Amino acid sequence: MIIIQGGQPLSGSVRAAGAKNAALPAIFASLLTPEPVELVNVPCLRDVETAVELVRALGKEVVWEEGRLLIREPGPLSPRAPEELVRRMRASFLVLGPLLARLGQAQVPLPGGCAIGTRPVDLHLKGLSALGAELEVQEGWVYARAPKLQGRTVYLDYPSVGATEQLLLAGALAAGETAILNPAREPEVVDLSRLLSALGARVRWADDRVVVQGTGALSGARHAVIPDRIEAGTFLLAGAITKGKVRVEGIIPEHLAALLVKLEEAGVEVSCGEDWVSVVMGRDPQGVGVETRPYPGFPTDLQPPMVSFLSLADGESLVTESVFEDRFGHVGELLRMGASIRRQGASLLIRGVGGLTGTRVTASDIRAGAALVLAGLAARGTTEVEGTDHIYRGYEGLAAKLGELGAQIWEEKENTYP
Ligand code: UD1
Repeated sequence: MIIIQGGQPLSGSVRAAGAKNAALPAIFASLLTPEPVELVNVPCLRDVETAVELVRALGKEVVWEEGRLLIREPGPLSPRAPEELVRRMRASFLVLGPLLARLGQAQVPLPGGCAIGTRPVDLHLKGLSALGAELEVQEGWVYARAPKLQGRTVYLDYPSVGATEQLLLAGALAAGETAILNPAREPEVVDLSRLLSALGARVRWADDRVVVQGTGALSGARHAVIPDRIEAGTFLLAGAITKGKVRVEGIIPEHLAALLVKLEEAGVEVSCGEDWVSVVMGRDPQGVGVETRPYPGFPTDLQPPMVSFLSLADGESLVTESVFEDRFGHVGELLRMGASIRRQGASLLIRGVGGLTGTRVTASDIRAGAALVLAGLAARGTTEVEGTDHIYRGYEGLAAKLGELGAQIWEEKENTYP
């Protein structure tokens, strides 16, 4: 449980960790090559632990020291991904493409993940089958075979992050060129394409597509994971919601452009340098309209913390979730803290209130958890956030980092209270 005594304006600077959503596909990319892959700026998170366990289970040897992963291949890889690890984290499904491309076969369970919507993998499967994979889905498992994947043009009905990554990974070892039309352009996808280039596949981004030129065998590489724009955005929102002054360092400000525009619209003073952003909030925020979109649109992962912030804005805000149909696990808990939010389909109509009140709330997924922590920072009295396992899947030392910014925040083992 995270316990917060709210009402303290945050002040100071904090350094962003490496991006979870870039580190995970990078770890799975190591399955494409027998050569060593070294990853630096890797955050220390539950989801990264799961990814490391998974590639170990598939035959890799991994040394993990202080943000650096060294991944080697001491013997043959297994084509079968353990069910428990794939169900624990949806991104684990990304091992399908690399195993298939490398071994000619793979057996991977359909994934689990956050409770934020149905999250199918149809685009992953359609894309792989376009590259020549024979796929069968039986009793919750995907059985895939392809003696040799063949590069083709694949059109994605939706610019899915996972499906784009799956096809880039598979395409890196396919014969010829794999062109993905309507790809996701999230910075984490581009980061994966940089790693694949370093491993020896040639990746080219164009206006409407990304093209990967496969190669028979990839080399090893050293790759620095980009900073976590979602963690950074969460800290900036923490500064704004507490009417504080917070600077986040070690980031790429351009990756946060949509959030920064919305913060300014709400009345936050935003300054940027080459690798930092700071926010100062001296007054009540104004309500704004926000719609989540694929990058460079407003990120769905920042929708929950943004809703907490807008709960305290003057006037009304309309927040529309266009990426995941059911990413509203934070709303019921915010209502219990005194927020005024009405859900209409995929939209939230938020009427700003003068203050929130601390109580015991439960995180239903990573970002809903972050939203509740932020609400707790601004609320009167004590907020107890349960379900911190979700939070630590995605935020490295969240309570400690907020503590450094002056938050009154503690962690306790869950269920220690009657
Ligand atoms: C990734 C991120 C997640 C982020 C999301 C959107 C990782 C590990 N996770 O998730 O934090 O919130 O991008 O930025 O990087 N869809 C389909 N069929 C598919 C695949 C996706 O219909 O085969 C739908 C999903 O249900 C969802 C939408 O597409 O509604 C976006 O999903 P996608 O972009 O694939 O997100 P993830 O890769 O799962």
